[in-house]
Amino acid sequence: MSPLLCLVYVSTAHTRLREPELEQLLSLSRARNQLDAVTGVLLYNDGNFMQYLEGPDAALRQTYQRIRADPLHGNLIELLLEPITERVFTTWAMGFARPTASELLALSNARWKRMGVDTTIQANAPPGVQLLHSFWQAAKR
Ligand SMILES: Cc1cc2nc3c(=O)[nH]c(=O)nc-3n(C[C@H](O)[C@H](O)[C@H](O)COP(=O)(O)O)c2cc1C
Repeated sequence: MSPLLCLVYVSTAHTRLREPELEQLLSLSRARNQLDAVTGVLLYNDGNFMQYLEGPDAALRQTYQRIRADPLHGNLIELLLEPITERVFTTWAMGFARPTASELLALSNARWKRMGVDTTIQANAPPGVQLLHSFWQAAKR
């Protein structure tokens, strides 16, 4: 089985996205992620995105490249890109939620990277991923 990778980033939309634009982005991404076996969630608040994605290494890197090149957004800051042993968001080709500004800020400020120099794959997700997962359990639709 191909190794799994997870990615978290925040970015800023170049213009405030309206409902139809968001819906279009979501349906395109869901269809594509399903084909690529990529799962995760997208959070959006007032022009700010946070996205968590996980999937096979090569597929995830290709998805990330397309996302980075997308003119819809900019100021992309990568918070986490690391190998994982199992998925956290197994069933979502791309879940979507609207956190409040303070929820999004708390998630962005969470600890995403592991401390120390141990780069081996670890069973426990970093605190940021755990916080995002709890948020998602409460917010999912
Ligand atoms: C915030 C944001 C999140 C996105 N998430 C995904 C995603 O999860 N999967 C995906 O395939 N495309 C996603 N896209 C869209 C890609 O950037 C790209 O437009 C799309 O994959 C089509 O690429 P193509 O025109 O090169 O085929 C996202 C775009 C933005 C702005």
